[in-house]
Parts: sequence; C-alpha cells; structure tokens
Amino acid sequence: MTPNFKLDLTQRPRRLRRTPSRRALVTETVLRTADLIAPLFVVDGKGAPEPIGSMPGICRFNLKDLVKECRQLHKLGIPAVAIFPKLDAKLKDAVGSRALDPDTLVLRAVRAIKKAVPELAVITDVALDPYTSHGHDGVLTEALDDVENDRTVGILCEMAVLQAAAGVDFVAPSDMMDGRVGAIRKALDAAGYTNTGILAYSVKFASAYYGPFRDAVGSAQAAGTHLLSKATYQMNPANRREALLEAALDDEQGADILMVKPAGAYLDIIRDVRNASNKPLAAYQVSGEYSQIHAAAKMGWLDLAKIRAESLLAIKRAGADMILTYFAKDMAQILGK
Ligand code: PBG
Repeated sequence: MTPNFKLDLTQRPRRLRRTPSRRALVTETVLRTADLIAPLFVVDGKGAPEPIGSMPGICRFNLKDLVKECRQLHKLGIPAVAIFPKLDAKLKDAVGSRALDPDTLVLRAVRAIKKAVPELAVITDVALDPYTSHGHDGVLTEALDDVENDRTVGILCEMAVLQAAAGVDFVAPSDMMDGRVGAIRKALDAAGYTNTGILAYSVKFASAYYGPFRDAVGSAQAAGTHLLSKATYQMNPANRREALLEAALDDEQGADILMVKPAGAYLDIIRDVRNASNKPLAAYQVSGEYSQIHAAAKMGWLDLAKIRAESLLAIKRAGADMILTYFAKDMAQILGK
C-alpha cells in the first residue's frame, strides 16, 4: 500500500460526475414523453379490459375503453398510438379476409379514436397475421410452403388504403414482403391519400422476443408449430449488412419513417441505420423486452423503474428518434409533458 500515491493527471473525467448538477449539465441523451408511441390492443365486445398474462399491466380494450385510454395518453403528452386488433378465431381464414372488411375492428377503432382525440397520431399495422388462421403475415402458396410475396403485397395495398380512409396518420407495414413500401405509397397516392405517411418496419428480425405479443393477438400458431417459418420473411438476427440493405430499400421506396425491431438486442442495428439514412428512425421495444423486465422485477432481481428507464434511454442513445414501447404510459407519468 502506498497511501501517498499521486497521479499527475490533466484529464480527470470524474470531475464532471461529482454532483447531480454537473452530471445534469453534461447529459447527452434525454428521453422525453414526446418520443414515445404506445402500442394498444383492441377486441370486439363490451367486456372489461382483458389482461394479457405474459404482459403485466397490458390489456386488450374494448372500443370504448380504448378511446378512453387514448384520451388519457394524449393528456399525458404521448404523441401517438399503434393499434393492434385481436380477432375471434372464427373470424380468421387462410387469406385473412377480415383485413379487407371496411368495417373490420381496427378501422372502427381508428375512426372512434380520430373522432374523440383527433390530435393524437394513430398508426396501424399493415400485415395479415391478426387475420389469418395460420398466423402468417400474408397468404400462402398452394403448396403451403411459402408466403406469396406479390399477392400479399396486393392485399396490403388495399389494407393500407382502407386504413388511410379511416384516418390513420401512418400505416405501418410490418410484414417484411419485398417491395411493399413502394407499392403501398403508390396505392395511397392513387387513392388521394398523399398525406398519409408510411412508418416502415424496415428491419424486422425473426425474433423470439415477439412471443407475448402473439399471445396478445392470437397469432402464435405461426411461431413454431407450423412448418413454414417466419424466418422466410423476417430477417436473420445474425445480419447487419442485410439490415442496411432493407433500410435503404424502404428509404428509396418512400418510407417516411424507418423502424428497427426488436430494439434492445439490436442497438448496433439502430446505430447503423441512424448513420445510413437521414430519415427519422423508430425502434420497437417489443413485447418480450417488456415482459422480461417485468419478470425479473417480479422475482426481485431487477429494479423495474430503473431498468425501464435505462432500457429506453439506451435505445434513444443508439439513435432512435421515437420508441414504440409498452412502458409508454408509465414513462409519461414519470417524465411529464
Ligand atoms: C405482426 C407484428 C408482430 C409484432 C408487431 N407486429 C409480431 C410478429 O411479427 O409475429 C410484434 C410486437 C411485439 O412483440 O411487441 N406483423
């Protein structure tokens, strides 16, 4: 031991960490309520909110309660919601017909929200998984060995136009079919919806982190039991260069906002896309990311409030301008407007 040991240092980074005020002055990344988008689940009927077992604190709302929730979120300063419908199994079929029903649940939800809280931006998924009996994001070939790309894109275009007509601010293709962003942009413009934006799930990985969401919307069958894997359209978690290719394609095809999903395990991809494009960038902190934090907190192993904030800050620091997160309401209550 040398008690009088002294370093001759000009650089002492710890100087800036000495007090809360000094730390506040040199904070590089700030998470704001205005960065957050709340995903919400909706069901038909008049029942009480249905808790989702694997997502503590998250419910499927009936239309009326959904509108109420949207009002609250708007008051809290959340700028946008993303609406996901859960259909009764008997309304699903092999081609996802209900996706093109002009009175389908999600469209009624959008109209109700836009009527009650017009200032709140509304986003809807463009993909067939809530509507197909097999749970895939598109229609299958006759041999059931693939999701048929081009035919699926044709359906997605019609879906997007219906959603635009219902008043959404952004349609969000989450299907990962090739060429869908360009086709949807053309279809929206041709129908006169030049002001409806596209938030593209540009880099969506075939991830096990979607598990709880599939419970929430009842699309779990495609995840494992079916012969056809979602890996035939969602990306390989091993690939960084391919992520840049996907992002560039959506950028060129007219996406207004690019998205990376999941977020927490893909911070390098968020940074890569941030550096490669000047478009705004969203990241989706998906259901499994939410659930694992809750599970660890329930075990008493992690501090819920701290991990929640840290996980979101990391996503923002990686380069995301906005974050879809099931923690949106909790965070808004803490952060304020
Ligand atoms: C469907 C869709 C999924 C999610 C958003 N849109 C699941 C999937 O691709 O199976 C996942 C969201 C989450 O896990 O929170 N196209």
